[in-house]
Amino acid sequence: MKTHKLFENNSHTWLMFGRDDEKPNEIIDTNQYIVISNKNALLMDPGGIELFSAMLSAVIKQLPADKITHLFASHQDPDIISSLGLWDQALPSATLHSPWIWESFIKHFGMNNITYSAIPDEGSSLKIDQVTLDFIPAHYLHSSGNFNVYDAEAKILMSGDIGAALESVDAPLYVEDFDEHIDKMKMFHQRWMPSNEAKNDWVRRVRKLDVDMMCPQHGRIFKGDNVKRFLDWFEALEVGIIGRSASE
Ligand SMILES: [Fe+2]
Ligand SMILES: [Fe+2]
Repeated sequence: MKTHKLFENNSHTWLMFGRDDEKPNEIIDTNQYIVISNKNALLMDPGGIELFSAMLSAVIKQLPADKITHLFASHQDPDIISSLGLWDQALPSATLHSPWIWESFIKHFGMNNITYSAIPDEGSSLKIDQVTLDFIPAHYLHSSGNFNVYDAEAKILMSGDIGAALESVDAPLYVEDFDEHIDKMKMFHQRWMPSNEAKNDWVRRVRKLDVDMMCPQHGRIFKGDNVKRFLDWFEALEVGIIGRSASE
Protein backbone atom coordinates (compact mmCIF):
# COMPACT_ATOMS: atom_id res chain seq x y z
CA MET A 1 0.00 0.00 0.00
CA LYS A 2 1.51 3.31 -1.06
CA THR A 3 0.89 6.70 0.54
CA HIS A 4 0.87 9.99 -1.41
CA LYS A 5 0.51 13.51 -0.07
CA LEU A 6 -1.95 15.47 -2.23
CA PHE A 7 -2.21 18.74 -0.31
CA GLU A 8 -0.85 20.43 2.79
CA ASN A 9 -1.29 23.85 4.40
CA ASN A 10 -1.30 25.21 7.98
CA SER A 11 -4.64 23.70 8.87
CA HIS A 12 -4.73 20.31 7.20
CA THR A 13 -3.29 17.61 4.94
CA TRP A 14 -4.80 15.30 2.31
CA LEU A 15 -3.26 11.87 1.82
CA MET A 16 -4.14 9.10 -0.59
CA PHE A 17 -3.53 5.41 0.10
CA GLY A 18 -3.57 3.07 -2.87
CA ARG A 19 -1.74 1.22 -5.62
CA ASP A 20 -1.65 -1.82 -3.32
CA ASP A 21 0.55 -4.36 -5.15
CA GLU A 22 -0.24 -7.04 -2.56
CA LYS A 23 -3.97 -7.11 -3.26
CA PRO A 24 -5.44 -10.26 -4.86
CA ASN A 25 -5.68 -9.99 -8.68
CA GLU A 26 -9.43 -10.50 -8.94
CA ILE A 27 -10.19 -7.57 -6.61
CA ILE A 28 -10.53 -4.05 -8.02
CA ASP A 29 -7.81 -1.62 -6.90
CA THR A 30 -9.13 1.22 -4.73
CA ASN A 31 -7.94 4.63 -3.56
CA GLN A 32 -8.51 5.60 0.06
CA TYR A 33 -8.24 9.22 1.20
CA ILE A 34 -7.75 10.94 4.54
CA VAL A 35 -7.95 14.56 5.70
CA ILE A 36 -5.81 15.19 8.77
CA SER A 37 -6.41 18.39 10.74
CA ASN A 38 -4.97 19.54 14.08
CA LYS A 39 -6.57 17.06 16.40
CA ASN A 40 -8.87 15.00 14.17
CA ALA A 41 -8.97 13.14 10.90
CA LEU A 42 -11.60 11.98 8.42
CA LEU A 43 -10.93 8.67 6.63
CA MET A 44 -12.93 8.43 3.39
CA ASP A 45 -14.11 5.24 1.67
CA PRO A 46 -11.79 3.12 3.86
CA GLY A 47 -12.11 0.07 1.58
CA GLY A 48 -12.81 -3.63 1.57
CA ILE A 49 -12.36 -6.08 4.42
CA GLU A 50 -9.39 -7.69 2.63
CA LEU A 51 -7.58 -4.35 2.65
CA PHE A 52 -7.98 -3.58 6.34
CA SER A 53 -4.61 -4.70 7.70
CA ALA A 54 -2.69 -3.02 4.85
CA MET A 55 -4.72 0.16 5.38
CA LEU A 56 -4.33 0.18 9.15
CA SER A 57 -0.55 -0.23 8.94
CA ALA A 58 -0.30 2.51 6.27
CA VAL A 59 -2.49 4.86 8.32
CA ILE A 60 -0.69 4.44 11.65
CA LYS A 61 2.62 5.35 9.98
CA GLN A 62 1.05 8.78 9.40
CA LEU A 63 -0.95 9.47 12.58
CA PRO A 64 -2.08 7.78 15.78
CA ALA A 65 -5.18 5.71 15.00
CA ASP A 66 -7.27 7.38 17.72
CA LYS A 67 -6.91 10.71 15.88
CA ILE A 68 -9.28 9.27 13.25
CA THR A 69 -12.50 10.54 14.79
CA HIS A 70 -14.56 10.46 11.58
CA LEU A 71 -15.14 7.97 8.79
CA PHE A 72 -17.04 8.56 5.55
CA ALA A 73 -18.63 6.00 3.22
CA SER A 74 -19.89 7.51 -0.04
CA HIS A 75 -22.24 4.56 -0.53
CA GLN A 76 -22.86 0.95 0.50
CA ASP A 77 -20.56 -1.03 -1.81
CA PRO A 78 -18.19 -3.68 -0.38
CA ASP A 79 -15.13 -2.04 -1.98
CA ILE A 80 -16.09 1.14 -0.09
CA ILE A 81 -16.91 -0.04 3.40
CA SER A 82 -16.91 -3.82 3.96
CA SER A 83 -13.98 -3.19 6.35
CA LEU A 84 -16.40 -1.45 8.74
CA GLY A 85 -16.57 -4.33 11.25
CA LEU A 86 -12.80 -4.15 11.76
CA TRP A 87 -12.63 -0.35 11.95
CA ASP A 88 -15.43 -0.66 14.50
CA GLN A 89 -12.98 -2.48 16.78
CA ALA A 90 -9.99 -0.28 15.98
CA LEU A 91 -11.85 3.06 16.31
CA PRO A 92 -14.76 2.45 18.70
CA SER A 93 -15.37 6.18 19.36
CA ALA A 94 -15.46 7.26 15.71
CA THR A 95 -18.49 8.58 13.78
CA LEU A 96 -19.37 7.22 10.33
CA HIS A 97 -20.92 9.75 7.93
CA SER A 98 -22.91 8.01 5.23
CA PRO A 99 -26.18 8.40 3.25
CA TRP A 100 -29.29 8.06 5.43
CA ILE A 101 -30.77 5.67 2.87
CA TRP A 102 -28.02 3.09 3.50
CA GLU A 103 -27.95 3.08 7.31
CA SER A 104 -29.82 -0.18 7.82
CA PHE A 105 -27.79 -1.89 5.07
CA ILE A 106 -24.28 -0.67 5.92
CA LYS A 107 -24.72 -1.85 9.50
CA HIS A 108 -24.67 -5.43 8.12
CA PHE A 109 -20.90 -5.00 7.78
CA GLY A 110 -20.73 -4.92 11.59
CA MET A 111 -21.10 -1.79 13.68
CA ASN A 112 -21.38 -2.13 17.44
CA ASN A 113 -19.34 0.84 18.61
CA ILE A 114 -19.08 3.44 15.84
CA THR A 115 -21.86 6.08 15.68
CA TYR A 116 -23.79 6.40 12.38
CA SER A 117 -24.34 10.00 11.29
CA ALA A 118 -26.94 9.90 8.50
CA ILE A 119 -26.34 12.45 5.71
CA PRO A 120 -29.64 13.86 4.40
CA ASP A 121 -30.32 13.74 0.63
CA GLU A 122 -29.49 17.43 0.19
CA GLY A 123 -26.01 16.96 1.73
CA SER A 124 -24.39 18.52 4.78
CA SER A 125 -21.07 19.80 6.12
CA LEU A 126 -18.59 18.51 8.65
CA LYS A 127 -16.22 20.79 10.54
CA ILE A 128 -13.08 19.18 11.94
CA ASP A 129 -10.96 21.75 13.78
CA GLN A 130 -10.59 24.66 11.30
CA VAL A 131 -11.48 22.61 8.22
CA THR A 132 -14.93 22.48 6.63
CA LEU A 133 -15.76 19.52 4.41
CA ASP A 134 -18.97 19.47 2.36
CA PHE A 135 -20.88 16.30 1.52
CA ILE A 136 -22.07 16.99 -2.03
CA PRO A 137 -25.02 14.96 -3.40
CA ALA A 138 -24.04 12.53 -6.17
CA HIS A 139 -27.07 10.24 -6.08
CA TYR A 140 -27.38 7.46 -8.69
CA LEU A 141 -23.71 7.89 -9.57
CA HIS A 142 -23.80 5.02 -9.22
CA SER A 143 -25.61 4.32 -5.97
CA SER A 144 -29.13 5.60 -5.21
CA GLY A 145 -27.75 7.33 -2.11
CA ASN A 146 -24.25 8.67 -2.76
CA PHE A 147 -22.09 11.67 -1.79
CA ASN A 148 -18.78 13.30 -2.77
CA VAL A 149 -16.58 15.19 -0.31
CA TYR A 150 -15.54 18.75 -1.23
CA ASP A 151 -12.84 20.82 0.44
CA ALA A 152 -13.16 24.43 -0.76
CA GLU A 153 -9.83 25.46 0.79
CA ALA A 154 -7.79 22.67 -0.84
CA LYS A 155 -10.04 22.76 -3.94
CA ILE A 156 -10.25 18.97 -3.82
CA LEU A 157 -13.34 16.94 -4.73
CA MET A 158 -13.25 13.31 -3.57
CA SER A 159 -15.60 11.92 -6.23
CA GLY A 160 -16.01 8.27 -5.21
CA ASP A 161 -16.88 6.09 -8.20
CA ILE A 162 -17.29 9.12 -10.51
CA GLY A 163 -14.18 9.38 -12.66
CA ALA A 164 -13.21 5.80 -11.85
CA ALA A 165 -10.94 3.95 -14.25
CA LEU A 166 -10.08 0.28 -14.45
CA GLU A 167 -6.36 -0.19 -14.72
CA SER A 168 -3.30 -1.88 -13.24
CA VAL A 169 -1.95 -1.21 -9.74
CA ASP A 170 1.23 0.37 -11.16
CA ALA A 171 -0.71 3.04 -13.09
CA PRO A 172 0.48 6.63 -12.61
CA LEU A 173 -1.26 8.69 -9.96
CA TYR A 174 -2.50 11.48 -12.23
CA VAL A 175 -4.23 11.46 -15.62
CA GLU A 176 -1.61 12.52 -18.14
CA ASP A 177 -3.34 12.27 -21.54
CA PHE A 178 -7.11 12.67 -21.06
CA ASP A 179 -8.07 11.30 -24.50
CA GLU A 180 -6.04 8.14 -23.87
CA HIS A 181 -7.67 7.78 -20.45
CA ILE A 182 -11.23 7.69 -21.86
CA ASP A 183 -10.93 4.02 -22.84
CA LYS A 184 -10.32 3.07 -19.21
CA MET A 185 -13.38 4.95 -17.94
CA LYS A 186 -16.04 4.59 -20.61
CA MET A 187 -17.49 1.15 -19.89
CA PHE A 188 -17.42 1.75 -16.13
CA HIS A 189 -19.53 4.92 -16.39
CA GLN A 190 -21.92 3.65 -19.07
CA ARG A 191 -22.66 0.40 -17.27
CA TRP A 192 -22.68 1.41 -13.60
CA MET A 193 -24.22 4.88 -13.86
CA PRO A 194 -27.96 4.41 -14.50
CA SER A 195 -29.30 7.92 -15.10
CA ASN A 196 -28.44 10.68 -17.60
CA GLU A 197 -30.63 13.08 -15.63
CA ALA A 198 -28.75 12.44 -12.37
CA LYS A 199 -25.42 12.71 -14.19
CA ASN A 200 -26.24 16.08 -15.76
CA ASP A 201 -27.57 17.35 -12.45
CA TRP A 202 -24.25 16.44 -10.79
CA VAL A 203 -22.22 18.04 -13.60
CA ARG A 204 -24.15 21.31 -13.12
CA ARG A 205 -23.54 21.17 -9.36
CA VAL A 206 -19.82 20.48 -9.67
CA ARG A 207 -19.26 23.19 -12.31
CA LYS A 208 -20.17 25.74 -9.60
CA LEU A 209 -17.35 24.49 -7.36
CA ASP A 210 -13.72 25.52 -7.64
CA VAL A 211 -12.02 22.15 -8.18
CA ASP A 212 -8.30 21.82 -8.76
CA MET A 213 -8.16 18.08 -8.10
CA MET A 214 -10.86 15.47 -8.62
CA CYS A 215 -9.98 12.28 -6.76
CA PRO A 216 -11.89 9.09 -7.64
CA GLN A 217 -11.97 5.85 -5.66
CA HIS A 218 -10.46 3.86 -8.57
CA GLY A 219 -7.79 4.86 -11.06
CA ARG A 220 -6.11 8.22 -11.51
CA ILE A 221 -6.61 11.73 -10.17
CA PHE A 222 -7.73 14.57 -12.49
CA LYS A 223 -5.82 17.81 -12.01
CA GLY A 224 -6.25 21.33 -13.43
CA ASP A 225 -7.70 21.39 -16.96
CA ASN A 226 -8.36 17.65 -16.84
CA VAL A 227 -11.13 18.28 -14.29
CA LYS A 228 -12.97 20.43 -16.85
CA ARG A 229 -12.22 17.88 -19.59
CA PHE A 230 -13.79 15.18 -17.44
CA LEU A 231 -16.94 17.25 -16.79
CA ASP A 232 -17.34 17.97 -20.54
CA TRP A 233 -16.78 14.31 -21.45
CA PHE A 234 -19.13 12.99 -18.75
CA GLU A 235 -21.85 15.48 -19.69
CA ALA A 236 -21.78 14.30 -23.30
CA LEU A 237 -21.68 10.57 -22.41
CA GLU A 238 -24.87 8.50 -22.60
CA VAL A 239 -25.01 6.37 -19.46
CA GLY A 240 -27.24 3.49 -18.37
CA ILE A 241 -26.13 1.41 -21.33
CA ILE A 242 -25.54 -2.33 -21.15
CA GLY A 243 -24.21 -4.97 -23.49
CA ARG A 244 -21.87 -4.61 -26.45
CA SER A 245 -22.38 -0.89 -26.97
CA ALA A 246 -20.97 -0.22 -23.51
CA SER A 247 -17.57 -1.65 -24.41
CA GLU A 248 -17.24 -0.18 -27.91
FE1 LIG B 1 -19.55 1.61 -5.98
FE1 LIG C 1 -15.98 1.62 -6.23
